[in-house]
Amino acid sequence: MPDLQTILASMTLAEKAALCTGAGPWTTTALPRLGLPRLVVSDGPHGVRHPIDLNGMASESHPATCFPTASLLASTWDVDLIHTLGQALAEECIALGVDVLLGPGANLKRSPLGGRNFEYFSEDPYLAGEMAAAWIAGVQSRGVGASLKHFAANNQEFQRFSINVEVDERTLRELYLPAFETAVKKAQPWTVMCAYNQINGVYCAEHAGLLDEILKDEWGFEGLVVSDWGAVHDRVASLQAGLDLEMPGPQPRRVQAVIDAVQARTLDESVLDEAVRRILGVALKAAETPKGGAYDAEAHHELARQVAAEGMVLLKNDGVLPLRAPQRIAVIGLAAQEAYFQGGGSSHIHPTRVCVPYQELQARAPQAEWTYAPGYTAEQSFRPDLVAEAARAAAGAEVALLFAALPASKEAEGYDRPDLDLSGQLVDLIRAVAQAQPRTVVVLNNGAPIAMQAWIDAAAAVLEGWMMGQAGGAAVADLLFGRANPCGKLAETFPLKYADTPAYLNWPGEAGRVRYGEGLFAGYRYYDARQQAVQFPFGHGLSYTHFVYSHPAVSAAVFKDVDGLTVTVDVTNTGHLPGKEIVQLYVHDRQAGLARPPKELKAFAKVALAPGETRSVSLPLNFRAFAFYHPAYHRWITEPGEFDLLIGASAADIRCRLTVTLESTLCLPCILDETATLREWLADRHGQAVLAPLLDEIEARARQSFGVDARGGSSNGIGMEIMDMMQDMPLPSVLTFQQALLDAPVEDILADLLRQAHGQAA
Ligand code: BGC
Repeated sequence: MPDLQTILASMTLAEKAALCTGAGPWTTTALPRLGLPRLVVSDGPHGVRHPIDLNGMASESHPATCFPTASLLASTWDVDLIHTLGQALAEECIALGVDVLLGPGANLKRSPLGGRNFEYFSEDPYLAGEMAAAWIAGVQSRGVGASLKHFAANNQEFQRFSINVEVDERTLRELYLPAFETAVKKAQPWTVMCAYNQINGVYCAEHAGLLDEILKDEWGFEGLVVSDWGAVHDRVASLQAGLDLEMPGPQPRRVQAVIDAVQARTLDESVLDEAVRRILGVALKAAETPKGGAYDAEAHHELARQVAAEGMVLLKNDGVLPLRAPQRIAVIGLAAQEAYFQGGGSSHIHPTRVCVPYQELQARAPQAEWTYAPGYTAEQSFRPDLVAEAARAAAGAEVALLFAALPASKEAEGYDRPDLDLSGQLVDLIRAVAQAQPRTVVVLNNGAPIAMQAWIDAAAAVLEGWMMGQAGGAAVADLLFGRANPCGKLAETFPLKYADTPAYLNWPGEAGRVRYGEGLFAGYRYYDARQQAVQFPFGHGLSYTHFVYSHPAVSAAVFKDVDGLTVTVDVTNTGHLPGKEIVQLYVHDRQAGLARPPKELKAFAKVALAPGETRSVSLPLNFRAFAFYHPAYHRWITEPGEFDLLIGASAADIRCRLTVTLESTLCLPCILDETATLREWLADRHGQAVLAPLLDEIEARARQSFGVDARGGSSNGIGMEIMDMMQDMPLPSVLTFQQALLDAPVEDILADLLRQAHGQAA
């Protein structure tokens, strides 16, 4: 095959323009004349949705392994496992002839009501970034491309094609961009998919600041930017902003618009060439991976089971679990017979097979007497007869296993959830069954948090089974019977009620706009800051064994930001079963120039321990673990000072604390200007240095002229108390009040001070 430069140099303007828009819903334009094959893309993200008819937008798809969705994947906190999952996804892509898999979704879960939350990893950008990077690295290690989506701030379905996200720069940088940043810097996805929405008045597809400046220039993204399907409004403007490939196609008018713009010289051909170069780069790389063959469907089903078992979260257990050879078991709930294992929309997979939870359970205790009652219908409409029947079944057993799933219609791409609640039918069912049978275990199937206050006290145990993928039924059975030990932990907070959630007052927006008014305080950052009780905190998850943390240590008590640190802690399994613990490290800045969340996750590790075993867990921290984004400097900065390192089993269960002192190596530019306040001058190292002598001089003169002492007191002087009152006054106004004590006009003095301060910083 010819090389990239040769192909590019031989292409006509029409061919270049055609390459930048899809040829069909799932393919790019091939150039047989130059030996360039088309690219084939498929959704994504938790399986391969490869359409039987490649020209059909809504075609049925080939069977593929349906892995658990991202909520469960993130709850594994296991980057190696997610990497392995990525490899399996790539093997299925290769067998099906797919070059690029459209995933993962790295958007933050801003509100638990977000309709696609099941496709996203976490409310925390660090965890989401690590998961996305591992997923991409796994897929791409087999020569298949990933498409990191939806870039950026695509956090709701309400008006998803047009909503204008109003978000401040710091919040964007600290919450909504870092998962993408990590994934790009660590794993270099072949493609990034830009989102439908607008950010601060500009569509993502036409956002040069986002695509060209941040993604490509600042983060060094080497691949191509593809539009979400139908996200482009103005093809020429989008090319100019850095959007390389528009999907889906064909769109002959868009192609013609690009040709016309180049000919009219309103679009520089070098811009088009750069897009073509990026698309060719991915197409040629994809062509290096021969497609076809088969994958081991059984092995992938087994992997799906393993992942499901690692990501389900034991939320509550009064001791009823694991089940110890009960003889009479009642299984209740339609979802035990008809597994609820994935969400609706573009990610919907045609599974190779599906484990039925009830059958899996029976297979693990064939000697027991089993009874089943559905408890509810698919629509979950009001049916008291089903509740009564289920309660009778539960009363006659030693234990009741109740499968409570959200109705499938409640969780899908395209619309948000209206509330956090289980249906009235399900709440009645859980209460009635738990009253009839105190040993009732509730197994939940849902893609995002639900409110539990109405029933959780009645349940003896609750297992969060998530959207568990096609093999989830087997994983549930393994966990309930103790053949696997639960080890997942929540990657998002479960609030007590919807009104408690961070975005509550600003969700989902109106009149075309949504204001991210909660700013930096999303997820546990908000609940921590408000000291607000939650149902289950971020990072929570129980095990059938116990872990004790000891000997916390840090590589240095005083350190330079550029050097970073390593934190170590011993973790001991003090129980009688092998198990895995997820150790979390949060950083708390004791004093900062700008408001910061009380703590932020900056490292984690998952460790497997035999009974009685102790291992030392190592948690590295780099510059970014201590930094915050300063909107006045437009960059990440560290400030010198003390930080607490909080080692915990969840965000609310901190086991060890260490304190370290950071020495910042940054030489920041001086950002003082004519409008800066006295407080800002004194907070700035250089400003303080040049202003202090002048303030001393003014005070000395005031004392001489008006007889005030250094503590202030005279109505005319500039004593300390008056200085306090003037802290938030612009410096020129402060000086104007003291004009009588100054030798030169305020404008001249200010200009001199600014020159000196900026000169010092340079
Ligand atoms: C979704 C994407 C998906 C694409 C192709 C869009 O509507 O937002 O996630 O990859 O369709 O199906």
